[in-house]
Amino acid sequence: MTRVLRTPIFAANWKLNHGPTDARAFMQRFLQQVPRVDDRSLLIFPSALSLAAVVDAIKDRPDVIVGVQQVHTESLGAFTGENSVVIARDAGARAVLVGHSERRHLFGETDEATGRKMRLALDARLIPMLCVGETLAEREAGATEHVVLRQLEAGLSALSVAEVSQVVLAYEPVWAIGTGRTATPADASAIHGVLRGALRSRAGDRAGHIPICYGGSVNRGNVAELLAAPDVDGVLVGGASLDADGWSAIVRTEVAH
Ligand code: PGA
Repeated sequence: MTRVLRTPIFAANWKLNHGPTDARAFMQRFLQQVPRVDDRSLLIFPSALSLAAVVDAIKDRPDVIVGVQQVHTESLGAFTGENSVVIARDAGARAVLVGHSERRHLFGETDEATGRKMRLALDARLIPMLCVGETLAEREAGATEHVVLRQLEAGLSALSVAEVSQVVLAYEPVWAIGTGRTATPADASAIHGVLRGALRSRAGDRAGHIPICYGGSVNRGNVAELLAAPDVDGVLVGGASLDADGWSAIVRTEVAH
């Protein structure tokens, strides 16, 4: 399993878009425009039905990692319609999103479920990307830190210190997802710093190597300044990752180290 991803991380979350035909066309165009990279990590989270198309497209591109957007809290069994960490791994996935806000808010994913999924993901040798973030109401109530720390603790609750250092985090304020409203680099940095502090108390010095990505209306215009902010180690991008040319431009962003 890829233990520590090279930063910066550029992760595309296609959500419920791009079937296999579109995914193949996207990958062909994207891979043409983005030659093999070794100074950043590229991840793509397609729909599970398009996973095979992306896996096939990247067979000669070990620098691109493909993942699934969601898995069930059980690995195998009588759970009609669900995705499994074991099946995802067998199908070529190497990463998984856990606790994306759409899963939490539209599909009722609980903190407890995220903890279980993180455990299963590591057992299946998938890189888990744990998403945390507050709603607008929580932010306005001054509860941002409380919410993200609660989500972080729940997500990591079943992991050992060594395992905690294998995860990737994504801070995605819910009010910034798909809304065109981006957190400022300073806003993002402040919460990333809070998350880093909590990781430090769990994992000590290893916490410095855990990537913390920012997500929420990231686009070509704001990606460079977000990546330049302290403690922002990558981006998780929805809408602006759907167009192959636009996404290619984003992943080629010059990053000040
Ligand atoms: P967005 O989505 O970039 O469209 O805001 C980000 C995400 O939900 O991961």
